[in-house]
Amino acid sequence: MKDGKNINLALIGCGKMGTAMLRGWLASSIENRIYILDPAGIPEDLQDYVPNPVSFFTDPAKFVSAAPAADIFIIAVKPQIMENVCRSIAKAVPRSALVLSIAAGQTITSFERRFGTAQPVVRAMPNTPASIGEGISAAVANGNVTENQKEQADAVLKSIGKTEWVDDESLLDAITAVSGSGPAYVFLLIEIMAEAGCKAGLPADLAMRLARQTVVGASALAKKETALPVSSLRQSVTSPGGTTEAALRVLMGGPMQRLFDEAIAAATARGKELGN
Ligand SMILES: NC(=O)c1ccc[n+]([C@@H]2O[C@H](COP(=O)([O-])OP(=O)(O)OC[C@H]3O[C@@H](n4cnc5c(N)ncnc54)[C@H](OP(=O)(O)O)[C@@H]3O)[C@@H](O)[C@H]2O)c1
Repeated sequence: MKDGKNINLALIGCGKMGTAMLRGWLASSIENRIYILDPAGIPEDLQDYVPNPVSFFTDPAKFVSAAPAADIFIIAVKPQIMENVCRSIAKAVPRSALVLSIAAGQTITSFERRFGTAQPVVRAMPNTPASIGEGISAAVANGNVTENQKEQADAVLKSIGKTEWVDDESLLDAITAVSGSGPAYVFLLIEIMAEAGCKAGLPADLAMRLARQTVVGASALAKKETALPVSSLRQSVTSPGGTTEAALRVLMGGPMQRLFDEAIAAATARGKELGN
């Protein structure tokens, strides 16, 4: 039994997320062999880097006839082409192999329909900090996934950051809204803080450097001080009667929570729509 080390992986789609995962696997040496299918060929920035045990295919027919002896088939293509891609590779996927999808909105049922109801399937939602090993993936498994396969899937996802497992697939829409899309909200926060700094009289480039590094530093503190609730980190910056308190009185008493409630609800609803 392989326990998340020396597993054979097949990666279908080597774009942004696929490349991030590939880098993570190579760095953490979890793989034995990796078979990759992507019609665009090996990404340019990986051409001098990918070592021997990686076989790269651009033609689905050649991929299928090579019959990759993979334990896990990781599907990282856009949801819009999922149907065709699954059809083109289905013959290469053994019935006992784990299918691990990271595609937004694609349900476990849709993969059971494409590969068969006995197929072990894990549906996961990572996010873009995966590209520097700082992602977080939430995952849910169907009833065919063995404990050993779950450990293997966990190792595959841990190579790009942290993992959270849930039992209820319907939570994935809200999870996508919080952590899948979440990096965009934080980047927007940097933009908004810099813009507000400009309005308060700062040169634009200085305001952007200040806002950017403030989010970087605050994130690093949130990562380091895991024993403290985030509210304590906030309070530690807030002295009574001081500048932070003046700003927080505006932010916390105002529409910020309502805006976030609406934003997360909109993203959750869109995730549900995409899954239908
Ligand atoms: N990016 C994110 O923030 C994020 C977060 C969580 C989940 N996801 C999910 O991750 C998946 C991949 O997203 P991404 O951002 O990595 O997209 P991406 O950069 O476009 O990568 C998809 C890759 O699949 C390739 N491809 C196209 N047709 C294929 C085929 N028939 N067989 C194999 N590969 C094929 C594409 O090649 P071409 O470019 O030549 O078409 C591209 O290299 C999506 O389902 C998305 O929902 C993304």
